[in-house]
Amino acid sequence: METRFISFERTRLAVHVAGRGPLAVLVHGYPLDHRMWLDAMQGSLTEQRTLVAIDLRGHGQSPWCGDTTHGMDLFADDVATVVHTLTDEPVDVVGLSMGGYVAQALWAAHRKLVRSLALVDTRAAGDDDAGKAGRDAAMQTVVTRGRAALVAGMLDKLLAKRPDNARDLMLRARVQTMAESLPVETIVADLRGLRDRPDRTSLLATITVPTLVVVGSEDPISTPAESEQIARSILGARLAVVPGCGHLVPMEDPHAFAQQLGAFWKGLV
Ligand code: MLT
Repeated sequence: METRFISFERTRLAVHVAGRGPLAVLVHGYPLDHRMWLDAMQGSLTEQRTLVAIDLRGHGQSPWCGDTTHGMDLFADDVATVVHTLTDEPVDVVGLSMGGYVAQALWAAHRKLVRSLALVDTRAAGDDDAGKAGRDAAMQTVVTRGRAALVAGMLDKLLAKRPDNARDLMLRARVQTMAESLPVETIVADLRGLRDRPDRTSLLATITVPTLVVVGSEDPISTPAESEQIARSILGARLAVVPGCGHLVPMEDPHAFAQQLGAFWKGLV
């Protein structure tokens, strides 16, 4: 895997590249970074695509740039700049959860750049009042009690329980490391952006590129029922429910994820 940096205005974005063939851009979730795609970037998908895993501003190896809010449109503009820098062709876009919100924002503002969409463990609806209050509470937690307190309350929602304890522990360790390495400023800016993101439900019917919707059967955040609704709203979209997974399918079952995405990409003309 090769790491490159793309600098513009007051921003510097790290992109991690592996594989060969047409470009596919991978957009991580919250509170994560490109390392959530590590399994995908070492597996069979690299035979089909040049995988470009972006560290969104403030995440992974991309520094926090002074923004008090990380709106999904801001992230989408960053992704568009990365795509423009790397290629003149439209790309396959894969977004997990917050990355899926960014993928939808990219479709809203820069659809010419999008060749196909994979919406993974994500939602189209915005936060309801309880959800918004939860974001505010999370900001208080991280600022007053620190990252460990915030992350401890999240792990059980992100990962399904596994019968294999050793594997379960390593998954939890990987997520914990990523989340606890995010600057607190990034976490607060992300939470504001997530809280204030628009409802994209009506956008779904405008999507005209091939779309795959992937969800873990045990995902409590972006549920299978909601994912089915998303798939039904996009003409010709395909839904894959991955058994035994929670909110992080590409980490929890990398093999099944690669099979689903690989088959989807094979079917593209
Ligand atoms: C994510 O995984 O990106 C988050 O769960 C998104 C969210 O909290 O809405």
